[in-house]
Amino acid sequence: MDISQYKNVRVLNHPLLTHKITKLRNIKTKTNDFRQLVKEIAVIEGYETLRDVPMHMKEIETPVEKTVQPVISPSNLCFVPILRAGLGMADGMLELVPGARCGHIGLYRDEVTHEPHEYYCKLPDDIANMKVYVIDPMLATGGSAIDAIKMLQKHGVEHVDAFICIIAAPEGVKAFCEAFPDTPLIIGALDRQLNENAYICPGLGDCGDRIFGTVKK
Ligand code: PRP
Ligand code: URA
Repeated sequence: MDISQYKNVRVLNHPLLTHKITKLRNIKTKTNDFRQLVKEIAVIEGYETLRDVPMHMKEIETPVEKTVQPVISPSNLCFVPILRAGLGMADGMLELVPGARCGHIGLYRDEVTHEPHEYYCKLPDDIANMKVYVIDPMLATGGSAIDAIKMLQKHGVEHVDAFICIIAAPEGVKAFCEAFPDTPLIIGALDRQLNENAYICPGLGDCGDRIFGTVKK
């Protein structure tokens, strides 16, 4: 896939991030380590994504003198994990910005059609005035990401500041960019393709199951 055709897409290439994603992919990685890695990866991706977050000046006092220094407004940031797997990333994002707020969107993919189904939505009342970052480790068909952003639009969010994922399939990137060409899409690793069950190849398997230790038979 020629990613350069999509101006809103950024694949984060950093050895530390790639190393952690490789560990995440490994079938031998156990639940505990998997969960920890998802959190650490979210910290790295969040740090990069929030590079342009607005700052304002605040008067403080050092032990030496009064001064006016730049700060962010943590409570103006809203992280929106898509349940379940997004919760694993929310832990890392909140470690980065403890004062941020969180909304939650519950979506599950139908195992046969692979279409997303909504089962939960709880967002801050004033989310329309906040900077909004949607987080989900996997962008496969793109259906869940697209539905989540449409749900946010229904709640008055005109502009999502970024959708952050760990692994994306080219099919999902294309669908996302066609739906939201102006929404920044931050990707940890861009994989080869989807398989017949709409799983990302090589991917990491079912992310929610691996984070929470549930297994689909
Ligand atoms: C996974 C993942 C995404 C979705 C991606 O969730 O966390 O939300 O699949 O697939 P898509 O791009 O084709 O929509 P899943 O539906 O398996 O729910 P879970 O996190 O509760 O297991
Ligand atoms: N959801 C996952 O958890 N993994 C995939 O590969 C695709 C969707």
